[in-house]
Amino acid sequence: MPEEGRQDRAVGQAAETLNAARLVAVFAGAGLSAESGLPTFRDSGGLWEGHRVEDVATPEGFQHDPVLVWRFYAQRQVDQTRVEPNAGHYALAAMEEMFEDFLLITQNVDNLSERAGSRKLVKIHGDLMEIWCRRCEWKSVLEQPVDPGSLRTPDNLPRCPACGSLARPGVVWFGEMLPPAAIERAISFTVAADVLMTVGTSGLVSGGYGFTDYVRGHGGKVIEVNPNETYLSDQADILIRSGSATALPAILERLRLLRSRA
Ligand code: APR
Repeated sequence: MPEEGRQDRAVGQAAETLNAARLVAVFAGAGLSAESGLPTFRDSGGLWEGHRVEDVATPEGFQHDPVLVWRFYAQRQVDQTRVEPNAGHYALAAMEEMFEDFLLITQNVDNLSERAGSRKLVKIHGDLMEIWCRRCEWKSVLEQPVDPGSLRTPDNLPRCPACGSLARPGVVWFGEMLPPAAIERAISFTVAADVLMTVGTSGLVSGGYGFTDYVRGHGGKVIEVNPNETYLSDQADILIRSGSATALPAILERLRLLRSRA
């Protein structure tokens, strides 16, 4: 079968699988925001280019050079204000109300899903606009991006108003625990979900945290939306090899068609 026909069939199968589901989980990664113009981590030209992961995404990197790390995240805060959600974000937001329950589990720290209207979501890697104290329990949400140009010395960096120590960007770094409440919510949803749709994630980080196993463990189905093969592809029942800004609206359209015929 020509490639186009194969993809079209996979989209149809995905819509039918979703149509039969009551509880639907989505596990999203950087690929979801790629077509909005935010770079992914591991594709060529990815975000880490020019920065070693250890320098900007580990507690040790922050300890060593907090100015570099704060400037890196301040720039990402600015970058997300310059881009818009894409059709994939909007399709996921529209799917929210089409099932008995739905949860978007996102590794993305950008705000594009929220800006597209997603409300049933859990951010397991934190949020670019959050700021956390390193010493006490203080956490807050910034209203405006920090100006990267204002961050020149450790004295200019954001500080905790409660205890005065250096504050850090509110994202989870390598070697750190995931926020317990967020990961518990994600696990308790996936252990019961009928379908898990993985979207734009390589699955490299901790094998997707076992979400595919939880869903398959009780006979649930896995749909993968990704132009490339991933570490999770082996576990997918349906593979849709195209970008999420094309594939997700196509699935949504087919699903609506099925519902309108019911
Ligand atoms: N649509 C869908 N997927 C895409 C698109 C697209 N338009 N473009 C690229 N992709 C896919 C790539 O094929 C790849 O599988 O997005 C995936 C991006 O993978 P990663 O860069 O590894 O991103 P992610 O899986 O989100 O990384 C997980 O790693 O470093 C950490 O904390 C960081 O949250 C991040 C985590």
